[in-house]
Amino acid sequence: MKNTRVVIFLAFVLLATAVTLLVFYNLGYIFYFPASSDDRSPAQPIAFSHRLHAGERGIHCEYCHRSARISSTAGVPDVALCRSCHMYIAADRPVIKDLSRYWIEGRPIPWVRVHRLPDFAFFPHRMHLNAGVYCDQCHGNVAAMDRVERVSGLNMGWCLDCHRRKSASIDCWTCHR
Ligand code: HEC
Ligand code: HEC
Ligand code: HEC
Ligand code: HEC
Ligand code: HEC
Repeated sequence: MKNTRVVIFLAFVLLATAVTLLVFYNLGYIFYFPASSDDRSPAQPIAFSHRLHAGERGIHCEYCHRSARISSTAGVPDVALCRSCHMYIAADRPVIKDLSRYWIEGRPIPWVRVHRLPDFAFFPHRMHLNAGVYCDQCHGNVAAMDRVERVSGLNMGWCLDCHRRKSASIDCWTCHR
């Protein structure tokens, strides 16, 4: 009789330990892994290289990301802009034929986003460019990247650090409206 009680007690202790460990493991998972544990450099549907275009060929960032200076988003160029060059340049290569297929079929290229804030945070590119903060300060040396990689945390602490250094606003409503 006594032995059965001891066994039940031990079984209970083991179960409680297991449940506790499981709960803490999951809490750890939720709280200690930031959004940046996502893929920082996702594969893209067309292997577009910034190193080749912006680096080697020296095409200006804002030639392709045209809305950065005038709106909150930087914008990704549509396939018509690619085509304006690739109608003539390297047109016979397989990857450029894949590119033309999007144009012919009237489909946008489904680029995978590398940087994205949650909807409750407001980030205007325009204000930053106007204040003299340029692309590389937040995105790193993109002109050296074959595939874009996210190099900044994009968390609130990262925004606030720079806002403090540059005496920009740190009022909550600046970024949460
Ligand atoms: C010839 C056009 C072209 C030029 C020039 C160009 N880009 Fe891009 N950029 C793209 C395209 C297309 C994408 C989407 C595909 C990708 O992510 O590689 C992109 C994506 C990006 C992204 C990632 C966007 C996201 O999904 O979060 C960043 C950051 C970026 N470009 C910065 C730059 C910077 C900085 C420069 C200048 C050094 C530059 N780009 C020059 C066409 C261009
Ligand atoms: C201002 C002209 C220009 C624009 C705009 C442009 N490219 Fe290019 N692209 C080039 C040049 C130049 C090369 C290098 C060709 C070579 O190797 O001789 C190139 C090379 C490439 C290659 C590599 C081809 C290979 O040989 O593997 C790909 C892929 C490519 N571009 C995709 C794009 C995409 C996608 C866009 C639109 C977002 C774009 N390009 C916009 C000029 C341009
Ligand atoms: C002060 C930091 C900062 C600077 C400077 C900056 N970016 Fe960004 N960029 C971001 C953040 C943060 C995001 C994510 C925004 C979001 O999800 O709302 C982003 C997103 C992007 C995107 C994808 C979404 C979009 O807006 O279309 C592109 C492309 C991009 N940036 C290109 C550029 C280029 C090109 C420059 C320079 C002309 C530049 N950025 C300057 C921080 C910056
Ligand atoms: C590298 C420095 C830097 C980083 C990183 C940065 N900012 Fe800024 N931000 C500035 C500067 C400088 C200004 C312009 C301040 C001015 O004009 O008074 C500014 C202005 C702004 C404004 C407009 C402020 C106003 O007065 O209306 C918003 C909104 C903003 N930033 C949001 C963000 C968010 C969100 C992030 C992070 C995702 C971020 N910023 C990251 C430097 C930075
Ligand atoms: C310069 C821009 C900026 C300012 C100022 C700012 N925030 Fe944020 N905040 C952000 C960004 C960007 C995120 C999203 C970051 C992320 O996903 O890690 C965020 C996330 C948050 C979150 C969600 C946290 C989480 O872990 O999901 C809360 C709550 C918050 N902010 C509250 C505030 C309060 C309160 C203030 C004023 C004291 C403030 N913020 C000021 C940019 C800012």
